[in-house]
Amino acid sequence: MPKVTFLVNGQEKTVDTATDQTILAIAQANGIPMESACGGNGFCMTCKCHARKGAENLSPRNEREEAMGMTGDERLGCQATVKGDVTVELENA
Ligand code: FES
Repeated sequence: MPKVTFLVNGQEKTVDTATDQTILAIAQANGIPMESACGGNGFCMTCKCHARKGAENLSPRNEREEAMGMTGDERLGCQATVKGDVTVELENA
């Protein structure tokens, strides 16, 4: 079972999750304040986050993320799904 560690405003919270959930869905299920102005459709970037560790354990960047200009460790929480342990830092919280 993958572990997702969220870094939010200097705080750290680690949760267990099933595979293939989006980072946004995991955040919402665990009380992490990840924003989602477009409702998780990949158009607003309020769910933007940074994969600080375990980026290889996320799904490959998809077309929506490419269209929104995600580079480096940047991911959209509503698009990236979890395959294994990862640490993500929220940009908007
Ligand atoms: S919730 Fe809008 S881009 Fe992810």
